[in-house]
Parts: sequence; C-alpha cells; structure tokens
Amino acid sequence: MSSELSFDFEVQQRDGRARLGTLQTPHGEVQTPLFMPVGTQGTVKGLSPAEIEEVGSQIILANTYHLMLRPGEQLVAQHGGLQGFSGYPGPFLTDSGGFQVMSLGHLRKISEEGVIFKSHLDGSMIELTPERSIQVQQALGADIIMAFDECPPYPAERDYIRSSLQRTARWLERCLAVKDKDDQALFAIVQGGVHPDLRDESLALTLPFDTPGYAIGGLAVGEPKEEMFPAVAYTAERLPEHKPRYLMGVGHPEDLVAGIALGVDMFDCVYPTRTGRFGYALTDRGRLNLNSSGARTRLEPIDPDCDCVACRTFTQAYIAHLLRAEEMLGPRLLSIHNLRYLHRLVERMREAIAVGTLYDWAMAWGQTYFGSKA
Ligand code: GUN
Ligand code: ZN
Repeated sequence: MSSELSFDFEVQQRDGRARLGTLQTPHGEVQTPLFMPVGTQGTVKGLSPAEIEEVGSQIILANTYHLMLRPGEQLVAQHGGLQGFSGYPGPFLTDSGGFQVMSLGHLRKISEEGVIFKSHLDGSMIELTPERSIQVQQALGADIIMAFDECPPYPAERDYIRSSLQRTARWLERCLAVKDKDDQALFAIVQGGVHPDLRDESLALTLPFDTPGYAIGGLAVGEPKEEMFPAVAYTAERLPEHKPRYLMGVGHPEDLVAGIALGVDMFDCVYPTRTGRFGYALTDRGRLNLNSSGARTRLEPIDPDCDCVACRTFTQAYIAHLLRAEEMLGPRLLSIHNLRYLHRLVERMREAIAVGTLYDWAMAWGQTYFGSKA
C-alpha cells in the first residue's frame, strides 16, 4: 500500500501473467488494464469531455512540457488543476516533460542538473529539472505524476543507456525529495533499453524507492517489436505484483493485446487519435483507410459491432466524404471510433481475464486481425 492519500491498487484476478485490477485515485476509481488517451494540451484532440466519457476513457494523459510553456501551470492551478481547466472531471496522469523535450527535438543540453531546451513557441531557452518537473506537475494537479527521467533514443550505445538509467535513478531521488503533496501518486520509470542486464540494473536502483506504481520506459522508440516485447516481458515480471505497471507510449491494438498478456496494466499512445485524424479507422480486421476511393461508395458503417456514435449513425461513404471535403467532423468521428475501439478491445480482454480465457481470446483475435486485412 502506498502512503499517498486516496490512492490504492488491488489486483482482483489473474490469468497467466495478465491481471485485472482496480486503481483508486482522488478523482475516481478506474479498472485495469486500461488505455489512456493522450490529451497533450489538456484536450483529447477533437473530443469534448462528454465525448471522452462516452467512448469509455477512464483517465487522460496530459503533458508537463506543453502545459508549462502554454498556458503555464499557474493558470491551470487557478482553475483548480487539470479537471477544472479542461472540464473533464475524471483522473489525469501527467508525463514529466523530459521525454517530450527529447522526442520533439528541442533539446539543447542535458546534464546532471536537468535539460535545457528551446521553446517551440517563442524560441526562448528553458530549463527543466527533476525539481521543476515535480513543481509543475503539482500545480497541474494530476492524480498520477511521473518521475523526471531520461529516455535514450534507439539505437543508443550500451554505455550511454547505462549512465542514463543511473542518472534517471538519481533524478527519481530528487523528484521524491521535493514532492510535498500527498494527493498525487508519483510513479518511477524503469529504463535500460532492450538489454536485460541494464533493465536489472535500473530495477535494482528504482524498486527500493517503493513508489506506488512503476512505468516501463525507454520502449516504442523505434526498436523492432521482436526486441520490444521481450524487454516488456522481462521488466514486467520483475515489477512488484501489487503495484500498477504502465508501459509508456504504447498503444497499437496488437501491442495492447501482447502487453496485457505480459502483465501490463496501463498504456498510453497518440495512435488512435492521430491515425483517426489522418483518416484511418481501427477494426478487428485491421486498419481501414477512409481516404481510399473504395470507401467513398461503402454504404455500411466502419464496424457494425461498434457502439460508437460514428458507427451507430454514419456510413463509411459519408465519413469518406467528410474527409475529402475537409470537414472537421470527419477526423473527430474517426478519433471517437478509434478510442472506442481500443477501449472495447481492453474491455473484452478484461472480460476474458475474468473468466480465465485470455489466451484463447487473444489467439482468436490475432487470427482475425492479422489474417484478413480490411
Ligand atoms: N513516453 C514514452 N516513453 C517514455 C519514457 O521512457 N519516459 C517518459 N517520461 N515518457 C515516455
Ligand atoms: Zn465505431
């Protein structure tokens, strides 16, 4: 049990390595495994708070990096935090900022102190340290906040990955030293790339801090899936049984199926909303391209079994028309459908775990998904 107020995680059921759990946060209880939509700017692009709830999202991910630059964490704090600011009343998680600095290519200098980057908004030089990241995340007020870490690119030299995971552990200690709000749970992030011995070293340096949850970081950065999944399996089975495990930046349908089977409880990814904005729909038969000429004459919904507003109301032909006409409803409907698809996918897996049939369910799902491309 964690010392954080109103924060608790319980595993109710296991099926192989997969787990069914309940995570209690100050803004409500969520069922794991779960997928978190990305709301970088304090909005899941294109969706209103009511729509976020309707598609079945349970917790939203927001980003320290973007919100500290604009509008600034103080303005969010003046609204009572992310819930008051965004109008979404449920739980939030914020990422700590370092990963975004690096992945967006704005990094200028990285040192033991932290990172210095160039703002993508006005070009000014800004410093982000473990202390500053926690200060911003406390002002934003998410239920779960992330340790300030370094995620090496792929590929990277072993020696670099090693010194970076050691620095990440020192940064974790600094994060915990300044954290002074007890209504937020701080998750540590395990690094180490795809190397088992480096994952071991990161685990050995991280687990003694006994944080209320752990993230598996440093993956989905360009490595092949044949390297990612063994690293997920290796790390997940060495994390404490009774704490939530969060695989950062992962969220293609097949990755959720494999990750959940390997014992991961939480995921986030821009994929469903981003691919939706580009005109693609996720289905059990693979990804459907609504920009294709074939879609323009299809008089059926994206997925007759989907209960989202796009599938209940519109034909593929209509949505394809919206995309061609560059009407904003098109990307919105596809974002809604894709989020609903991923949440239903996870819901179906939770049901299978509950009755102990996850393996059979996953095999059957994989045959449809990989066997007959839409
Ligand atoms: N998002 C995806 N991967 C990572 C990671 O390794 N660290 C952080 N902070 N965020 C991530
Ligand atoms: Zn749908």
